[in-house]
Amino acid sequence: MSGASGLTIALDGPAASGKGTLARRIAAHYGLNHLDTGLTYRAVAKALADAGEPLDDEALAERAARSLDPGALDRTVLSTHEVGEAASKVAVMPAVRRALVEKQREFARRPPGAVLDGRDIGTVVCPDADVKLYVTASAAVRAERRWREIVDGGGTAEYADVLADVERRDARDMGRADSPLKPAADAHLLDTSEMDIESAFQAATALIDGVLARRNAD
Ligand code: C5P
Repeated sequence: MSGASGLTIALDGPAASGKGTLARRIAAHYGLNHLDTGLTYRAVAKALADAGEPLDDEALAERAARSLDPGALDRTVLSTHEVGEAASKVAVMPAVRRALVEKQREFARRPPGAVLDGRDIGTVVCPDADVKLYVTASAAVRAERRWREIVDGGGTAEYADVLADVERRDARDMGRADSPLKPAADAHLLDTSEMDIESAFQAATALIDGVLARRNAD
């Protein structure tokens, strides 16, 4: 669709809410760049783990964050459950967040505009985003989706363990002092508990098209 140039779209939400898939589809639909900011935290955690460094040394973690190239994030190696857990530990450190937020803002400023998804995009990274969506679903539904992904991928997992993981990650992301996960005051809430990805995409594009129509009418 035309008229989306220069647009910044912020998608926040908890783990397994569907925001990543939604962000990719929205970016492709409007011809915008896309950054999954979770991958930046994951890459820092993985760099530390690969170097045999601890996850709680703020100076070392900051150095890893500063040397990160957001254009070279490999989703395949970063998408494991262990890396996700480790990422939520490095994500509590303010120096790591400062370094990554700088890179994320730089990414958002690049033409032709961008969709960023994460936990603090609408609140901290891009508070002036043109559209903010807070994508959520109940913990039970998110755990069910995650469990299905694992099983469909040939793995084994107990649903109760997956649910406990989802709840633990929510508690860490919502409870941290620096940039906790919460909807921005001006975010549109999109609860996908009862929606498939197609309906969520339709709801999101209806909202974005409304914003674009108002913007292009000015
Ligand atoms: O979204 P994803 O599961 O890849 O994110 C991994 C972890 O990185 C999250 O649990 C969260 O702790 C952290 N994160 C964050 N801020 C963001 C994106 C991710 O703190 N903008």
